[in-house]
Formats: sequence, C-alpha cells, structure tokens
Amino acid sequence: SASLPFFSQEEVTKHRSLEHGVWVTYKGGVYDITEFVAMHPGGEKILLAAGGALEPFWSLYAVHSQEHVLEILSEYKIGNLNVDDVKKQQSVVSSDPYSSDPERHPVLHVNSLKPFNAEPPPEILSDSFITPSPFFFKRNHLPVPQVDPASYRLQVEGLPGGALTLSLQDLKTRFPKHTVTATLQCAGNRRSEMNKVKQVKGLNWGIAAISNATWSGARLRDVLQAAGYRADVAQWARHVQFEGLDKDVTGTTYGASIPLNKAVSEDGDVLLAYEMNGEDLPADHGFPVRVVVPGTVGARNVKWLGRIMVSAEESGSHWQQNDYKGFSPGTDWDTVDFKSAPAIQELPVQSAITAPADGAAVDRSAETLTVKGYAWSGGGREVVRVDVSLDGGKTWQAARLRGGEEEQQHGPRPAPPPGRAWAWKLWELEAPLPPDAQRMEIVCKAVDNSYNMQPDSVPPIWNLRGVLSNAWHRVQVEIRE
Ligand code: HEM
Ligand code: MTE
Repeated sequence: SASLPFFSQEEVTKHRSLEHGVWVTYKGGVYDITEFVAMHPGGEKILLAAGGALEPFWSLYAVHSQEHVLEILSEYKIGNLNVDDVKKQQSVVSSDPYSSDPERHPVLHVNSLKPFNAEPPPEILSDSFITPSPFFFKRNHLPVPQVDPASYRLQVEGLPGGALTLSLQDLKTRFPKHTVTATLQCAGNRRSEMNKVKQVKGLNWGIAAISNATWSGARLRDVLQAAGYRADVAQWARHVQFEGLDKDVTGTTYGASIPLNKAVSEDGDVLLAYEMNGEDLPADHGFPVRVVVPGTVGARNVKWLGRIMVSAEESGSHWQQNDYKGFSPGTDWDTVDFKSAPAIQELPVQSAITAPADGAAVDRSAETLTVKGYAWSGGGREVVRVDVSLDGGKTWQAARLRGGEEEQQHGPRPAPPPGRAWAWKLWELEAPLPPDAQRMEIVCKAVDNSYNMQPDSVPPIWNLRGVLSNAWHRVQVEIRE
C-alpha cells in the first residue's frame, strides 16, 4: 500500500455522489466505495458519509465494529489522506455521540454498548415483583438525548383545538397523576433461542428483555382531551403517533404509533409517565417523559417523548413500518414484504424459567428443587396458570403464582380488573428431584385468561427478525450424585 497515492481532503470531498463516485476516509485511508453502495446492508444511509470520514457514522452504528466489515472496506482502498488533512479530521473522527450516555449498573449483560442494550441476569429478575430501575432491561436505538427539564416542551398535534404545547410542569400540575404497574417486553425477548434454530437478524437477547415497574404520570387520554379530542375525531383518526427526541445522523427521530382506541380508552391506562418506581424517570428510560402503553410491545412505549400526533395513518417511522413485524418461517430477506404484515402491538402469552439457569448442576442431596420464573401476556390478558415439567414435557405440575414481596406483608395481590392485567406474575414450583435421572429438562408454559398457550417449539414460529419468540422455555439441569 506504500505505492498508493495520497489525496487531499478537497479531492475526497469532490466524490460525494454516485455520479461523481463515492469516496470515504477511514483511519487515514481513502476508499472508493461507489460499487459497494448498492450492496450495503444498511441501504442508502451509507451516502451520508460520502466525501468524508466514516468514523462519526460508524460510532453511531456499532454493527460496523466487526472484522468482516473492515475486510469489505479494505477491498476498496485507493490511497491515503494527506497527513495534514488527517490531523484536521481529529476532532470529527474522535467525537462520540454516546459520550453523554448515563452510567449503568455493572451487573447488566450488555448486548450492545452503542447504542446501549442490556438485560439483567435472570435470577435477579425473579427476585422482585417490581424490577428496580437499575436492573430494568434497557433498549436504545440511538444515543440517549440530554433533555433539560426546565425547557422541555411536549407538542400535541392533529386535534381540532389546534396544537397544544405542554411543559413538564404543565403535565404534572394540569392533569391528575395516575399510577400503573406494567410490564414492558421487547419484541426481541428470547431471540437467542430463534438464533439457535437458524440465524436471525437482531440483538441476541436472552430471556430478560422484560421487566416490571410502577409508572406514574398524566393519562394520555386526559392530555388528548385537553388538546381538543372529542368522540367525532374517531370518524377520521385511527392512530396516535409518538416521536422521541433521540435522533439518528439524518435527524430522524425514533417514532411509533398505537391505535387511537387504545390511547383514549378509559381502560387503556396509557400514560405519559414522568416517574418510574416512584422517582423521576432515569435517563435510559426516557427522562423526562415517556409513553407507557400497558399490554403493548416495548417498541411503542416511546421514550424522551417530544411530539404526539393524532392521525389517520400509522407512524411512518422505520420501526413501525419496516421492523417489529412477524412473518412466516418460510419468509427470508429476499422475499420479505414489510407492508404485508401488521405492526406488532399486543404481544402473545409468554413465560420463562429464571432459575435454575440452563446448564446448572444441582446436588442429589438437595432432594427438592425450586424452579422460578415469570409469566405475562399482552393486551391486559391475565396469566391464569403456569405449567412446569421436570421431564421434558411428559408430565406437568401447576406452579404457584407469586404475588411478589408484598404477598408476605399484605396477603395475596388483588386480582387485576378484567382486561387490565398489565403486570407479570412471578411463579415458583418446589418439587422433589426425580429419583433415577442424572439430568432433567425443565420446561414451562403459561396460559392466559383467553386460554392462549405458548407453542411447544421454536421452528414453527421462527421468523427472520427473531421477534415474538415465546415457545415453551426449556432448561437443562444436571443432577450431581
Ligand atoms: C450495516 C458495511 C457505511 C449504516 C452494515 C453491514 C455491513 C456494512 C457489512 C452489516 C453488518 C452486520 O449485520 O453484520 C458498511 C461499509 C461502509 C458502511 C463497508 C462504508 C464503506 C455505513 C454508513 C452508515 C451505515 C456511513 C450510516 C450513515 C448502516 C446501518 C446498518 C449497516 C444502519 C444496519 C442495517 C440493519 O441491520 O438493518 N454496514 N457500512 N453504514 N450499516 Fe453500514
Ligand atoms: N423510545 C425511543 N425514543 N427510542 C428508543 O430507542 N426503544 C423502544 C422503546 N421506546 C426506544 C423507545 C424499544 S424497542 C423498547 S423494547 C423500549 O423502549 C425499551 O424500554 P426500556 O429501555 O425502558 O426498557
């Protein structure tokens, strides 16, 4: 490569379109990637870096910090950048959009650092009915935006009353404070089990991309009414769109929408939450305001909420249109048509075993074994039963549904109102160890009050994006004599 020519930044900058060629720089090298643009898995976004440095973009999209990405890039090297121009790039190249992300608890299993995605160890998850905020799973698509609570404004648009602008203080003082205990689950929870069947695209979540918290804030319904919502709006409007304040390199914000009827229903319990577990929302969970849509997939619970729009259409955002949808196991990336499937809203019934861990060993001398886990269903459907098998699904026993710590102090948790079972149930089964076996396959499956049950295996529900992974959960345990 010593024989490769040197180019000035000025020369590189001239190559910023398919017509004039697309050049980029990376660590002092100059690359002509014109031919690669059409093959880029991340699509046309690649053109944003045309004529300049890749580093600021790659630091935003950490998928690129892999060996095979650098190998691809190396094929397109045409030269080196002048030493003076390399020096001038320094501040741009080393700026990290994630540098103001908050501190996180070291116990979390990190799936991706930038953007930050992490889940707690399963055994911590089933320790408490309410997940302490530091342990609550975190799913960010972009850097955490820094929002000044004093100048924060929420825009509410699309209603006959005209636009309404609310400060944080307005939200707290003009509307009654409402508290809901609700479980959030990412559509990709348990994706790693799908990955074992056949590779899927996405973060390799274990079983803990789900957590439960109390959320307090104004009801979305009350805010929409203050902004002019009346029953006749439902004649033309169908959806409520949300926009976050987190932005990608193009300035596009995170966005999603939910059906209008969920948003305005008295029983929907949709919140514009400013508190989580009795404290201000933590930065990772949407400070100062996030939407909490109980019973609905995590993706619609928009954090760092900036704008609400009542509209005839669903959100046009990438995450509503081209992601978070389910497909047939036979659909692959060549045949997938994202328009053909509805956006995930309510989630199917789910459960998993948090203890013992997969691959754990128990001593024969223990005689009994305690199996623990969680169970939850979307749409406010209550989990009514969890079945556990210690022999791979041949025989079953019903687990005891726990109410959480409060159960000991205040007696059993009262049943949620019908159709509003937003919180998970933790469960437990204590059983004698099977006398002859050297190993056990422990299995769990939950039943909700519509008698929906989990499918027994992954292959029939496998999908290319690895979402909606809710097969019977199985862990292998060895019994040590
Ligand atoms: C994904 C290569 C520039 C945005 C990818 C992947 C490769 C790749 C190989 C797939 C990674 C995987 O999943 O294992 C490259 C190369 C680039 C380049 C060689 C420059 C020569 C860019 C730029 C941007 C970008 C400048 C943004 C402005 C993305 C995004 C994805 C992606 C968003 C994820 C797509 C998805 O998972 O749906 N890129 N990339 N890339 N790239 Fe790039
Ligand atoms: N809201 C914004 N603004 N940006 C995001 O990246 N991620 C969504 C949702 N809301 C996201 C967002 C997804 S996919 C999930 S699963 C939940 O937030 C995760 O919420 P948590 O981080 O509080 O657990």
